[in-house]
Amino acid sequence: MHKNLKDKIKPDVLRTQLSNIYGFSEKISKIPDLVKLTLGEPDFATPKHVKQAAIAAIDDDESHYTATWGRIETRKAAADFLKNKYDVDYDPETQLVITNGVTEAMHDTLATFIEEGDEVLVPTPAFPVYYSLIDLNGGKLIQINTQPDDFLLTPERLQKAIAEHPNAKMIILNFPSNPTGRTYSASEIQMIAEILAKTDLIVVSDEIYSELTYGQKHTSIARFIPDQTILFNGLSKSHAMTGWRIGIFAGPANLVEQIAKVHELVTTSVMTAAQVAAEEALNRLQKYLD
Ligand SMILES: Cc1ncc(COP(=O)(O)O)c(C=O)c1O
Repeated sequence: MHKNLKDKIKPDVLRTQLSNIYGFSEKISKIPDLVKLTLGEPDFATPKHVKQAAIAAIDDDESHYTATWGRIETRKAAADFLKNKYDVDYDPETQLVITNGVTEAMHDTLATFIEEGDEVLVPTPAFPVYYSLIDLNGGKLIQINTQPDDFLLTPERLQKAIAEHPNAKMIILNFPSNPTGRTYSASEIQMIAEILAKTDLIVVSDEIYSELTYGQKHTSIARFIPDQTILFNGLSKSHAMTGWRIGIFAGPANLVEQIAKVHELVTTSVMTAAQVAAEEALNRLQKYLD
């Protein structure tokens, strides 16, 4: 007899909508000479020195689990990168975790904070994974449409959204933005930070495209409001390492240690050779980007 057990599935999972973008991208990938504007995927290869670091790690039998938060050397390299480039201070021992891409960091963070009915503010249009993860955790997406303001969140629009949703628990920012490519100047992001500082919102800031800025230096919101920011970054975009799955989340120690529980249960630790490659990439980041 054929059983249909679909009604056993959690409503949150049934309700979750996935973006069609991954399937669509795969379907059209074989078209010759296609310029793909589907996934955020650099069209160059992972740098040779990074690949060599991974090969050496495999040859040296670095093939065991690492600390669940990531190898301390990789965490230090990540903390140094954030300090040197963005003037934000994170203790690699207590405030920073290496994840399977920002996607995992995002999952872990939403699973840590978002319960049934929690409101999450998202300036839109935004990366569709945010919407799905809000669904998966039973949260409620509150869109702040940025289209009338040339796709940047203005202080006025933010204030209005906060006034209309005083119980919102989180805001998810992403700049430079996928899909719009827009980003904030230092003074623009400082104005947003000053408004958020007056709230208890958890500020999730996905800054994975920080190294892909042109003509304007990236400024992290964590410089202004470190106590309420969970900062994401990673190597997928800066080093064309989307397939290596290296992400970083950093924040206040008392929040990071809770998010890290979810990380540990999701993945134990990120692939060891990929972490060694990430250390190499992060330690020589500026030279490479130049
Ligand atoms: C805004 C944004 N955040 C996160 C990701 C996923 O990054 P990762 O490869 O580190 O999981 C993407 C990928 O396209 C993205 O565009």
